[in-house]
Amino acid sequence: MTVPTPSPTDDRITLVTGATGFTGSRLVHALVADGQSVRVIARSAVRARDVLPGGVEIIEGDLTDPVTVSRAVHGAGVVYHLAAVYREAKHGKLTYSDVNVGATKLLLEAARAGKVTRFVHCSTVGVHGHIARPPADEQYPFGPGDVYQRSKYEGERLALSYAERYGVPVAVARPTAIYGPGDTRLLKLFRMVAKRRFLLLDGGRVFYHMVYVDDLVRGLRLLGSHPRAVGEVFILGGEEYRTLAELASMIAAELGVPAPWIKLPARPFQMLGSICERVCVPLGIEPPIHRRRVDFYTKSRAFTIEKAKRLLGYRPLVSLEEGIARTAEWYRINGYLGTSADPGAPAETSIEHLTRGSRTPV
Ligand SMILES: NC(=O)c1ccc[n+]([C@@H]2O[C@H](COP(=O)([O-])OP(=O)(O)OC[C@H]3O[C@@H](n4cnc5c(N)ncnc54)[C@H](OP(=O)(O)O)[C@@H]3O)[C@@H](O)[C@H]2O)c1
Repeated sequence: MTVPTPSPTDDRITLVTGATGFTGSRLVHALVADGQSVRVIARSAVRARDVLPGGVEIIEGDLTDPVTVSRAVHGAGVVYHLAAVYREAKHGKLTYSDVNVGATKLLLEAARAGKVTRFVHCSTVGVHGHIARPPADEQYPFGPGDVYQRSKYEGERLALSYAERYGVPVAVARPTAIYGPGDTRLLKLFRMVAKRRFLLLDGGRVFYHMVYVDDLVRGLRLLGSHPRAVGEVFILGGEEYRTLAELASMIAAELGVPAPWIKLPARPFQMLGSICERVCVPLGIEPPIHRRRVDFYTKSRAFTIEKAKRLLGYRPLVSLEEGIARTAEWYRINGYLGTSADPGAPAETSIEHLTRGSRTPV
């Protein structure tokens, strides 16, 4: 797929937030490889230098700081806003709101004042919550189901309101679960399958929809350059979605282990999660089981990417099989599947996944 040539006004610097993250760093590499001048906001310049290509301008600071934000947006043409607080249990509600909503507002204000040529806001399909009637498109009812999804929903609404009220040229991306080499969120799933410990809660019947990181980067760049993206929302996913059971079987086939087959009901874990949260949260204690983690096994996520295809010419290039193979290879090379480079990697079951401090995708 070819990314449209930037318009003449796009010769200004391109600003990327979340550039030290999984998707942001891939986006910066792609932009720099294409000859664009890139600036990033990073909380650690050392880390940014470590993961980003040379020649990138680094503004060190926190996105919640108005001075940092206005310095970073000054003179920028296209802004890609990818930074977000994800669902780490250690963060309180306020942190989600400060970063995913508050910092988004600071950026939008600066973008409005600075007359940026495009503001690509990265949201999530998580704003739709559980998809009862798959596949969902951009018009599917909203149903954010946790603090992260609610803050992303608010951030997205805010971005669109700046487009409507002030004419900021906003384009919103709603990616499905992002994966690929460099990602460690889906590592636990691969690891559990590799160790033959992945349990099919509720039979693994729910759908799961992923997008390979480089396909997403191509999609985001379309939102940053295509004239038809302005004022619009686009779901960016892979070509296909599968049930968790099918996905686990594909991973098992890639890893050369038998497909998971042990089935357990999810309900007891949901009830236990509710009780733990009710007791622990008021005491400020990390609950040992979270409802949000059980959601991974019970909430269905299946989407259509027709709008992005039709209006922007978006086409995922990496099939699920190929993406899984590349990701598994990266895990293998880096010893993440319990081989030499990571000798202490613990074996894990689905039950342990529910109770430990891991992060769960989308
Ligand atoms: N991963 C998924 O499956 C998924 C699915 C759908 C949508 N999304 C959305 O896609 C985007 C990228 O996701 P990702 O998984 O690639 O992200 P990620 O790896 O979690 O990276 C998050 C980035 O945000 C930065 N950040 C967080 N708080 C910040 C703050 N206060 N000031 C400055 N920077 C801050 C982090 O910087 P540090 O390095 O300093 O921590 C990091 O660079 C996010 O908007 C996310 O909500 C993700």
